[in-house]
Amino acid sequence: MAHLITPSILSADFGNLQSVCEMINGSQADGFHLDVMDGVFVPNISFGFPVIKAIQKYAKKPLDVHLMIVEPDRYLERFKDAGADILTVHIEACAHIHTTIDAIKKLDMQVCIAVKPQTQLSILEEIISDIDAVCVMSVNPGFGGQTFMESAFNKVKDLKAIIRARNANALIKVDGGIDLSNYVRLVNSGADILVTGTSVFGADDPVRAIEALKKI
Ligand code: DX5
Ligand code: ZN
Repeated sequence: MAHLITPSILSADFGNLQSVCEMINGSQADGFHLDVMDGVFVPNISFGFPVIKAIQKYAKKPLDVHLMIVEPDRYLERFKDAGADILTVHIEACAHIHTTIDAIKKLDMQVCIAVKPQTQLSILEEIISDIDAVCVMSVNPGFGGQTFMESAFNKVKDLKAIIRARNANALIKVDGGIDLSNYVRLVNSGADILVTGTSVFGADDPVRAIEALKKI
């Protein structure tokens, strides 16, 4: 499978969300990545339901909502109603991960489980066959524009080995600090989905930046 690119709108111009959506619709991007932060799970606050709903009005590609919040179980249905197609929740934020996975599936959304850089992959072995994707964080979650952590390459390779050993179908998503200098090596290490914020919205021509990140 060719790798997917999902731009994180965290670094986009929030004063022009409609044109941001139209840009992504008309580009080679495969979806939208929406970062929700609560100021507790991570030391930053981003946006919530009204902004997701506004994006859903214009978006013609799937919405992947990345929850960096404590107790995500309390809000799963609200995110579904706001327009999420894929829900990415942190394993570190879930008291009973099986319950969370089942609840997301019941709401007819795809399940992606995110792991912070310090979280060991062994925690995923129990659930890897039950989920659609794993999100390997290549920065400490909380902010766009951070430096990519090189340790992510081996983490992706190790995760790929776990997925193969279990005959599972989970895709590998990587999030944080991805740009032209590291995306090829990530894909070669086994990444299927790349989240890109600054490298797309910081570029003079975001459509061409996405196109460049699709080339292998
Ligand atoms: C970080 C977020 C990322 C981030 C990606 O907490 O989850 O999605 O916005 O942005 P860049 O590509 O700028 O690291
Ligand atoms: Zn994210």
